[in-house]
Amino acid sequence: MSKKIIIANWKMNLSISEALRFAKNLARSTNQVIVAAPFTFLASLRDKVKRGDFRLAAQDVSEFEVGAYTGDVSAKMLKEVGCSYCLVGHSERRIYHHETDSQINLKIKNLLKYKIKPILCIGENEEQKARGQMSKALKEQLLGALAQISDPFQIIIAYEPVWAISTFQKSAKKKAASEKDIVLAHLYIRNLLVQFFGKKAGGIKILYGGTVNKKNSAEIFSLKQVDGALVGNSSLKISDFNAIIKQ
Ligand code: 13P
Repeated sequence: MSKKIIIANWKMNLSISEALRFAKNLARSTNQVIVAAPFTFLASLRDKVKRGDFRLAAQDVSEFEVGAYTGDVSAKMLKEVGCSYCLVGHSERRIYHHETDSQINLKIKNLLKYKIKPILCIGENEEQKARGQMSKALKEQLLGALAQISDPFQIIIAYEPVWAISTFQKSAKKKAASEKDIVLAHLYIRNLLVQFFGKKAGGIKILYGGTVNKKNSAEIFSLKQVDGALVGNSSLKISDFNAIIKQ
C-alpha cells in the first residue's frame, strides 16, 4: 500500500492527560499520521510531535488575521504552538456554526500565509444525496473555498459525506459510504481540481472521512483514488487508531 495520510479528529473529546497518553502509545507507522486536537491540548502535545511519530493539526482557525475577535484563534497563533495542519470547513462547523464558503476561503488564505497546510472538508448532506445533488454540492463548496487561491498544492481535501459521519447517523449500526460512492466522489473532486488548476492538481491529496474504523480501513485504503482518511470516533481509542495507522 502506498503511504497514506491518516488524521485523528478528536473533535471535542478527551482530556490533556488522555491526549498525552494517546501520544505516548501511538504506534509507529509508515503512513503520515496527523492528530487534530482541541486548541487547549496543542501546547502540551507540541513536545510529543518532536519525536516525529505524528504532526499536529488544529480543528479550526479564525478567518481574521489579528485584532478584536474575542474567542478566535489566529493562524499565526497556531503556527506558534507547533501546528503544521488545520482542518477547515468541517461539516460540524458548517452545520452548528453556520460557516460559509467565503469564511472558509478566508481561513484557508490565512493558513497559507502562515505556512500551515489546510485540510479542507467538503461533503454533501443526506438531502442533497437523495436529490442527486452530490456533485453540485461538492462543486459549490470546492469553488467557494478555493476562490482566488493560485497555489492549491499545500491544501489537502477531505471528502466527508455528512450522512456517513458516525454521529449524524441515527441507526446504531454506523456505516461508511460504499466503495462505489467513495470512488465516484473522489473522481469527481479530482476532475474539478484538474479543471481549476490544471494537470498539476493530480498531486493534491484527497482523503475520505465518515465511519472509518479498524474493520473497514484496509478496504478503503485499497482504493487507489483514496490518499488517506479523516477518522473521528475510531481515533478516540488508541488500540483502534493504531490498528488503522498500521495498515
Ligand atoms: P466519524 O469517523 O466518527 O464518522 O467522524 C468522521 C469525521 O467527522 C472526521 O472529521
